[in-house]
Amino acid sequence: MTTPSQVRIVEVGPRDGLQNEKAIVPTPTKIELIDRLSATGLQTIEATSFVSPKWVPQLADAAEVYTGIQKKPGLRYPVLVPNLQGYARAREVGVDEIAVFTAASEAFNRKNINASIAESLERFAPVIERAKADAVAVRGYVSTVLGCPYQGEVPLADVVRVAKALHAMGCYEISLGDTIGIGTPAKARAMLAAVSAEVPMSALAIHFHDTRGQALANILACLELGVGVIDSAVSGVGGCPYARGASGNVASEDVVYMLHGMGIATGIDLDKLIETGRWLSAQLARDNGSKVGKAA
Ligand code: HMG
Ligand code: MG
Repeated sequence: MTTPSQVRIVEVGPRDGLQNEKAIVPTPTKIELIDRLSATGLQTIEATSFVSPKWVPQLADAAEVYTGIQKKPGLRYPVLVPNLQGYARAREVGVDEIAVFTAASEAFNRKNINASIAESLERFAPVIERAKADAVAVRGYVSTVLGCPYQGEVPLADVVRVAKALHAMGCYEISLGDTIGIGTPAKARAMLAAVSAEVPMSALAIHFHDTRGQALANILACLELGVGVIDSAVSGVGGCPYARGASGNVASEDVVYMLHGMGIATGIDLDKLIETGRWLSAQLARDNGSKVGKAA
């Protein structure tokens, strides 16, 4: 057993959560969400995405959100960047940490970023080069590590190959995504064991969606292998608009409750996090409600 004594939570709600909301969440609500999260003890909050607004209109206000938030000293606010165009937009507003994202499945990657895996890595090379020159930290995502909505089974060898490639290109951390929440504990453990044989565990994170209620069990299986970074979203918001059947991320509140119950430190004030989750749920209910109201 190599369960860690402390875990860093990467809060992805403002990005993964809000990118999948049907009604576009107002910019001030996004800003208030991040500011509230900044007061909970979280160290890393993924703020938004500088992707094509044609593809993800929900996050078209990335620059306004990033400039509007109160950046707390010592906290990190990474953003998703798919290409050089996104990198330039992010840098214009002073972003100092980005995440590039690809998948272990060709079929999903084509739907999500209109590129093969090889093309996506080629696209990231100049982004990562620039980031290195600018002292911008780069995280890397591998999606569909436990299964793909289009291709079905994803061979472990493909997950390992893509994770290894991103790490070799200079990503300081690789987040392994069960994009559609299809995994079960034995599968999650086998996947992490295979990847960590090639990429150091200290450079790995897990990112599990909770479609079938398996996320906490999968996280526990991975904690026992020693993973020390967990992505989650406050109040369980989340999902990729290009992954058929994807639903919310595992809720940050549930992960923190489990970790604290196991004596694993996170530095997070659970009560403040729960309060933020309740506030967000009320905002989303209100925004969705007003959209339905307008449509009717
Ligand atoms: P494309 O259509 O092949 O690219 O999209 P393009 O270069 O032909 O550009 C199309 C249009 O978008 C052009 O505008 C570009 O200028 C513009 P037009 O000439 O038609 O007026 N454009 C941009 N605008 C602003 N910022 C940019 C940008 N790039 C192009 N950065 C592209 C390729 C990658 C851009 C597109 O497919 C895209 O943006 N995809 C993003 C999809 C996405 O965000 N998915 C969700 C995030 S991934 C996820 O949720 C999974 C994760 O959580 C882990 C897990 O759960 O597994 C991370
Ligand atoms: Mg996700």
